[in-house]
Amino acid sequence: MTAGPTREAIDPVRYISNRSSGKMGYAVAAAGVEQNHEVTLISGPVALSAPAGARLVNVTSAAEMAAAVMEHFTGCDVLVMAAAVADWRPVHPGTQKIKKSDQRMTLELEPTEDILLKILPMKSAQLVIGFAAETQNLLEEARRKLVRKELDLMVANDVSRTDAGFEVDMNEVVFIERDGETRQLPFMPKVEVARHLVKWVEDRIVKKSKKII
Ligand code: PMT
Repeated sequence: MTAGPTREAIDPVRYISNRSSGKMGYAVAAAGVEQNHEVTLISGPVALSAPAGARLVNVTSAAEMAAAVMEHFTGCDVLVMAAAVADWRPVHPGTQKIKKSDQRMTLELEPTEDILLKILPMKSAQLVIGFAAETQNLLEEARRKLVRKELDLMVANDVSRTDAGFEVDMNEVVFIERDGETRQLPFMPKVEVARHLVKWVEDRIVKKSKKII
């Protein structure tokens, strides 16, 4: 599982990042441990303690998170990408603190690696789950990302709300499956959303193994 934001350095003391607190991803990790699953939690910088029983891998930037996911992906059965990975990073981060001046300053940004796209060629039997953080056209945008990233499940959350999404303890999400099936969950604590997600995974794995038999 991945959780939290990434930070992309502007110079040694400044960075660009986002509002992710890690609460959603840490709740998924805790729900996994609760059900006796082996959990590796790849986390950006957050102010949370990892759930007891989870293996914590701390990362800072999108590149570090990508490397950690690549390292652990082949050995896992399920990847849950709840992290809010930065989409851009400064092209030329300063090696020293950039001096303040009265002039306007332009920061040149380049896209970071898309982790979910990067692991696609490595995918075998793993279930891959993404989260979509949207401020408009929630279902349409989440479905578009599910198809592009070839996910098994997309958890769509509306991050324009103040009572759900980023930072708070509550969330309201829609589970969108690859075959188009959609399930709206009620407004509930992130801990409960996480339990629903782990249950979805368990049901899916049972279904898969039944198919093999
Ligand atoms: O941390 P909290 O404060 O509890 O907030 C929870 C949350 C809102 C951060 C979380 O629920 C959430 O929505 N996480 C995903 C945020 C996000 O990056 O959404 P996206 O729509 O930009 O990305 C879609 C998917 O691609 C995500 O699974 C993301 O992890 C993944 N991604 C994004 C960018 C990138 N460079 N590589 C990726 O793999």
